[in-house]
Amino acid sequence: MIGLFDSGFGGLTILRAVVNALPHRHFLYFGDHATVPYGNREREDIYQLTLNAVEHMFNYGCCLVILACNTSTATSLRRLQQEWLPLINNNNHQQRRILGILVPIVEAITDAKLTFNNSKILKTKQLIAVFATKQTVLSNAYPLEISKRASEVTVIQQACPQLVDLIETGATKKKLFSLVCHYVDVLLENTKKKLPDIVILGCTHYNLIADLFATALPNNIEILSQPNLVTHSLVDYLRRHPEFDKLTTTTSIQFLTTGDPNRTSLFGSIFFGSSITFEKMKQ
Ligand code: DGL
Repeated sequence: MIGLFDSGFGGLTILRAVVNALPHRHFLYFGDHATVPYGNREREDIYQLTLNAVEHMFNYGCCLVILACNTSTATSLRRLQQEWLPLINNNNHQQRRILGILVPIVEAITDAKLTFNNSKILKTKQLIAVFATKQTVLSNAYPLEISKRASEVTVIQQACPQLVDLIETGATKKKLFSLVCHYVDVLLENTKKKLPDIVILGCTHYNLIADLFATALPNNIEILSQPNLVTHSLVDYLRRHPEFDKLTTTTSIQFLTTGDPNRTSLFGSIFFGSSITFEKMKQ
C-alpha cells in the first residue's frame, strides 16, 4: 500500500495525478484536518506531527509514504529519513521509505540529477518565483536545492500565510482571488516588477486554486505542475524499486482524517473531483 500524507486537502491534487498514472494499486490518503494548517506552526511541531502521521500510516500497512505536503517535506523529510527511519527499519525485514515532493520540481527546473551531474544545465539567468507557506519559505529548501544544481538561477519566495486556512474552510473564489492578487503584487514589488520565468506553487493546497494564480500572474507565466512532476518521479522510483509496487486487480483508495469525516468527505469530494469518503483515523 502506498501512502500519501498532507496536513489537509492539498495532497489530494498529488493523489489524483498519481492514481491516474498508477492504477491497480492500493493507496492510503491521510489528511491531518484537525491540525491544519501546518505552515504557520513551529518547525519542531511540524516535525512531530509529520512523524506521528507517518507512523500511523506505517501501522496501517504502508511501506512507502509520500509527504504530499511541501511544508512537511521542506522542514522534516531529511530529519525523518536520517534520524527516525533507521530506528524504525532496524530489525524489521520489511524496509520502509519516506519520499518528499520538492526534489522532483527542482530536478525538472534544473534538469540535472545531482548524483549524476552538477553541471549548469540552465543556460540563461532565470528568475524563479516560489509561492509557499511561511515555514516552507523560512526553511529556504527551494532556493537551497535549486542553487545546489544551478547556482546562476535566482529564486524569489513569497509566503502566503492565509491561503491554506481559507481553502480548508471553503472560502469563496472571490476572496481567495483578492488574496492571491495581493501576494502576487508583493512578489512583483520585491522583484522590482521583473517578471519571473517560472512559477512554483510550493504548497499542494495552492494547486487547488492554480487557476487563480494563473489569472493573477501577468503574461501567461508558466506555472509548474507539482502533481504531474511528482507523479513522473514516483513512476520512475517504483520502476527502480518494484518491492514497493504491489499490483492489485482494482484501484482502491482509503481516506483517513483526524478531522470530522462528514465535513472532510464533503469538501474532499469537491477538491478530488469525485465522491470520496473519509474515515476517522483511529488513534
Ligand atoms: N499542503 C501543505 C503544503 O504543501 C499545506 C501546509 C499547511 O498546512 O499550511 O505545504
